[in-house]
Amino acid sequence: MSFDLVLFGGTGDLTWRKLMPGLFQAFRHGSLPEGGRIIGVARDVLSDAQYRELIHARFDEVEGEKRPHPDEFARFAELLQFVPMDLSQPADYARLAARLAEREADVVVMYVATAPTLFAITCEQIAAAGLARAHTRIVLEKPLGHDLASNRAINHTVRRAFAERQIFRIDHYLGKPSVQNLFALRFGNALFEPLWRRETIANIQITIAEDIGVEKRGAFYDGTGALRDMVQNHALQLLCAIGMEPPINAHADAIRDEKLKVLRSLKPWTAHSVAQQVVRGQYAAGHPGGGTPVAAYLHEAGVARDSRTETFVALRTEIANWRWAGVPFYIRTGKRLAARDAHIEVNFRPAPHAIFRAPHGAAANRLVINLQPRDGLELHLLAQGQDQRHDRQHASQLLTPVHLDLDFDKRFGTERVGAYERLLLDVIDGRLNLFVRSDEQEEAWRWVEPVLDAWRADPEPPRSYAPGTWGPSAASAMIARDGYCWSEEC
Ligand code: BG6
Repeated sequence: MSFDLVLFGGTGDLTWRKLMPGLFQAFRHGSLPEGGRIIGVARDVLSDAQYRELIHARFDEVEGEKRPHPDEFARFAELLQFVPMDLSQPADYARLAARLAEREADVVVMYVATAPTLFAITCEQIAAAGLARAHTRIVLEKPLGHDLASNRAINHTVRRAFAERQIFRIDHYLGKPSVQNLFALRFGNALFEPLWRRETIANIQITIAEDIGVEKRGAFYDGTGALRDMVQNHALQLLCAIGMEPPINAHADAIRDEKLKVLRSLKPWTAHSVAQQVVRGQYAAGHPGGGTPVAAYLHEAGVARDSRTETFVALRTEIANWRWAGVPFYIRTGKRLAARDAHIEVNFRPAPHAIFRAPHGAAANRLVINLQPRDGLELHLLAQGQDQRHDRQHASQLLTPVHLDLDFDKRFGTERVGAYERLLLDVIDGRLNLFVRSDEQEEAWRWVEPVLDAWRADPEPPRSYAPGTWGPSAASAMIARDGYCWSEEC
């Protein structure tokens, strides 16, 4: 099967950081179909050869095994071409059309990795140039809009040109092997299903922590913030994967129908619940871990000096249905936190009647789904491991926390298919399972919007937190009000 993959934003940040490495890995693993072209598109005036050199130079910065061997890169580079285009100029699309017409590929993928403001016009112009054909697929990066209305407007424009089955809305968290494993854990094994409910589960915590700041994306980030950048999409998709009912099969719409039901069941916000159950923060200057000093968010390039954009959010919500009613779901995410660490904790209720003693503060049973940097599962239990010689009188009653640890990297190797590699191949193959449908996206925007509105009306700025910590202390106070704690605090 031959394919043409057009990368709008072909010299942009996402292309360097994620798309080219993903495509190269697919090429190296032999999974990229033969006879493909990868056509970078951007305003820069470059020849095919110059584009190849540019990409080559970027790969030179890559260290370790992921760095291509020269002959390997030379073969990959044969796929690369470049078309200079100003995306707002209709005439430039004719140039792209001419390049595509040089040969008829079985599948044409238009990957719109541009600034979100260009999504609508790019789709319109693709259609106007006669390039939205039956064998064309369009990939849209997040953020798709900045609120419900703008999201709907983009979706409306895209759907005028493409059928829903041709639209691939990326949430790269769905492509992570660890998230695939979450689906496998829940729907490939019957073990946890009877326990996966309000009667046995006390609370669920979703943490996506990053230790980096906003890097070179200050201008973009300042108009976005953590709620739109991470919660509306990645964190809610994880919450859906945890909270959804088993789908009737593994087809895209069966999975997406179930995720949609979760999003529709999220407890709506009130002014009171936003004030009580959402904490927003912004990182200050400091020395994370006593090391190199880092600038405050307000002094990052591209950020307004009086910005009220949040770089941290912690919130509590509930899924209002029979399975989950009353179980708190906590989400927290932020930049410049203590570690790069994404995980989900399923905290089970304690034994209903205690005949043993557990050390003070020892958690009851807990399933930890580690997403990154480690990818694995930990099942925390209580066992009798105490050295019985020292305390013979109580030894038989005293329990010790232990855990079973399954490390998927060790089990399956670290050379597993990365998120972008997987998602790019899925687009070429036309598999929609790991992409987000428009109604899911709209529902997620509908849910976060009242929080954004409440913040706009709030005279208080976000709470400041020191870099290298777990965010403002108000996030701990919020969860402590329910009698729980974040894992690193318990
Ligand atoms: C992106 C956000 O969607 O996800 C970034 O825009 C964030 O701000 C990134 O850094 C995190 O992705 P990952 O895969 O590194 O956890």
